[in-house]
Amino acid sequence: MSAQIISGRDISAEIRAELTDRVAELEKDGIKPGLATVLVGENPASQMYVGMKNKAAAKVGLHSRQLTLPVETSEEELLGVVAGLNADPEINGILVQLPLPDPIDEGKIIEAIHPSKDVDGLNPVNVGRLATDSGDFLAPCTPAGVIEMLVRSDNDPSGKHVVVVGRSNLVGRPLASLLLRKDRGGNATVTVAHSRTADLTAVTRSAEILVVAMGIPEKITGEMVAPGTIVIDVGTHRVDDPGSEKGYRVCGDVLFDEVKEVAAAISPSPGGVGPMTITMLLSNTVKAAVAAAARASA
Ligand code: GUN
Repeated sequence: MSAQIISGRDISAEIRAELTDRVAELEKDGIKPGLATVLVGENPASQMYVGMKNKAAAKVGLHSRQLTLPVETSEEELLGVVAGLNADPEINGILVQLPLPDPIDEGKIIEAIHPSKDVDGLNPVNVGRLATDSGDFLAPCTPAGVIEMLVRSDNDPSGKHVVVVGRSNLVGRPLASLLLRKDRGGNATVTVAHSRTADLTAVTRSAEILVVAMGIPEKITGEMVAPGTIVIDVGTHRVDDPGSEKGYRVCGDVLFDEVKEVAAAISPSPGGVGPMTITMLLSNTVKAAVAAAARASA
């Protein structure tokens, strides 16, 4: 039997509708959440992503500002831009699109973003608070999107064995931390597997929920998944497909056609985690604006 499809497009649309209502409510209280995106250089993929982020922000009613800087921008100049945005009361969220051109030190830039405006959740203060499940923090958007997809599709990870395949700072590690929290979408038993895991199939087959963020096209085959598993595919790849009109097709880390026959539920790629990442960026910006307003009135 074919699996239930967990549609990131549908869940995204649901959350964006909720955010639109929330933003309209906040406006009545004089709160207008503001997102600034910073793009350095002319990487076409980054240009496309930043454009999508600004468009989505405007659509839910956020104030959005796009700063486009030349590829030769120095680290010092970029630090100056970040400092300006940190001090700008119209801006609640700052997103510096990665990767940054050489020789800019990405870590330095991420650390310079004030933790309260770090809507990417990558600043070490936010990473540390998430890892220790303490204090207020902003969570990275992709793993936060995975949690929303599980909860909103009635596949709450609480009490379940979740196997995360991938240990990146952007997805695998923060996702493991989110799943371990004593909070909504947490309370899971978590195993993190990665490229050096011995007998990966034995580990993936032990999952009740399997989240794959390996970065390898269609690596997870049907035999690697136990019947009845919930599968979330974080991967997005463009692979050659000479038979298709465009000459390529988009796929995930999971061999969808095989795995959908054994899984109880599966998120596709495209149309799965991808749309959720931008949605959680908008959600983080609203959260940051509400927190800023609460601090201002305290
Ligand atoms: N480039 C690719 N993914 C991301 C992301 O989540 N945040 C930022 N800032 N840049 C990215």
